[in-house]
Amino acid sequence: MNNSKNILVTGGAGYIGSHTVVDLIQNGFNPIIVDDFRNAQKSSVAGIEEIIGKSIEVREVDVCDRVALKKVFEEFSFSGIIHFAAYKAVGESVESPLSYYRNNIVGLINVLELSIEFNVSNFVFSSSCTVYGEPTDSKVVTENTPIQPANSPYGNTKRIGEEIIEDVIASGVNMKILCLRYFNPVGAHASSLIGELPIGKPNNLLPVVTQCAIGKIPSITVNGNDYDTIDGTCVRDYIHVLDLANAHVKGVEWLAQQENPIVENVNIGTGKGTSVLEVIETFEEISGLKLNWKFGERRAGDVVEIFADVTKSFNLLNWKSNLSARDAIIDSWNWELKLKND
Ligand code: UD1
Repeated sequence: MNNSKNILVTGGAGYIGSHTVVDLIQNGFNPIIVDDFRNAQKSSVAGIEEIIGKSIEVREVDVCDRVALKKVFEEFSFSGIIHFAAYKAVGESVESPLSYYRNNIVGLINVLELSIEFNVSNFVFSSSCTVYGEPTDSKVVTENTPIQPANSPYGNTKRIGEEIIEDVIASGVNMKILCLRYFNPVGAHASSLIGELPIGKPNNLLPVVTQCAIGKIPSITVNGNDYDTIDGTCVRDYIHVLDLANAHVKGVEWLAQQENPIVENVNIGTGKGTSVLEVIETFEEISGLKLNWKFGERRAGDVVEIFADVTKSFNLLNWKSNLSARDAIIDSWNWELKLKND
């Protein structure tokens, strides 16, 4: 195998990671997954292998275990790294901040240190639109929109992660880093062989919707109906996980073309906002089902309305989303139906 195609994908068995691994392989890369399966299931590796029709390398390692992680760097020679492995539940991070700081910050430091030690210069970091907080001037945020204080320890780990990366580049190391600021990832692979597998009670809207429809949870509470938005509910930029996965492939290709150390922050969204009620209505129309939903209180810390200015992702990476929120809702529902049949 050509080493220049080896890409380390931490958290590669997870939701976004698994879809990215498939797209990397389909574009001629050789991803090596590092995952400790605390928030992912082995079945996602089987799903990846079924889609691509061959086996993939997986090392069951916690990125916080530096000694074990170093062995993976000794075993393979990487041309790039995509670092997904991290916790991502806002509410849980408020209850358990130290586990978030340990996992998300220590993991990032370990991966960066080993990248430097082993001369792996191309690096993609999973960041989030959470760094913008509640945007003040416009609901459409560019990468120059001011960063706000984080509204949760989870959000703070992304903000601190970006700052650590800025400092590492400023120190003069030979690295090129892309911080991709994801908006709201939704959907599943069209084959329904991989998708989101929330462990325990889901928090994010789409898994709540599909799990309610299938009967796993009794009802949906829409968090607030008196916001200053199109219908009173919060508005988000829902990005199909397949488009998001492809942004990583485009990112790795762009990094390989850069000759000098650089860091760039890039929004990864569709540029379109969809309200919570619009998601529910679209789901009902697609599935032909009536969902058991009711309005509840506002959720603490919720951003009212945010969507991406997507100019930079197109100009820099030649990437744009192709799929809509509707496409993603269809694929999420097919995935939930497949899980039930299995
Ligand atoms: C949050 C984070 C985001 C992170 C994502 C990953 C913030 C502000 N946002 O996104 O950075 O990448 O989690 O998990 O930190 N909703 C309901 N009922 C439900 C569930 C959700 O009404 O049962 C509403 C929420 O109140 C929100 C919208 O649906 O208005 C989307 O919520 P969710 O899917 O949890 O994503 P975010 O909070 O936008």
